[in-house]
Amino acid sequence: MNILDRLKSGITTSSVEATYQVACELAAQLPDEAVLTLEGDLGAGKTTFVKGLAQAWDIQEAVTSPTFNIYNLYQGTRQLAHMDAYRLEKSPEIWDELMLEELIFPPFCLAIEWPSKLPFIPWPITHRLQLTAQGEMRTISLA
Ligand SMILES: Nc1ncnc2c1ncn2[C@@H]1O[C@H](COP(=O)(O)OP(=O)(O)OP(=O)(O)O)[C@@H](O)[C@H]1O
Ligand SMILES: [Mg+2]
Repeated sequence: MNILDRLKSGITTSSVEATYQVACELAAQLPDEAVLTLEGDLGAGKTTFVKGLAQAWDIQEAVTSPTFNIYNLYQGTRQLAHMDAYRLEKSPEIWDELMLEELIFPPFCLAIEWPSKLPFIPWPITHRLQLTAQGEMRTISLA
């Protein structure tokens, strides 16, 4: 079964590496302009999944959670913009302030943790991912 069908049914991983592997498989299937939203509780594995995307695109820089600076940009074989909206106020001006549209060019992937904190997203969403945790298990699915 291909990765999208498997994600529709939900994939359960029992290690960080297995989560990286799922991200890698999805990374290979994304269009040149990809927006992923990642929903799930604290510690559900959203940032871990984004680290897996970074691996897939040969990004050498360490991916760290951008909680305080809202987003980080990385360049590999594809541009990766990793956003954590957790601390954002729902202000419509936010996208003008971030100036992301001037900074990202295809092929890119914008991966957004806590998308519900944003007033809107100025690109079509390619895939909505949902992550849940139970002990060491993480279940990743398409919402
Ligand atoms: N199967 C697994 N897949 C991913 N992470 C796992 C797994 N098992 C354990 N973990 C651990 O769960 C934690 C996930 O943290 P991560 O920062 O990715 O969560 P998050 O969803 O981004 O949280 P936050 O909302 O705080 O940003 C890490 O400490 C990781 O080591
Ligand atoms: Mg995170």
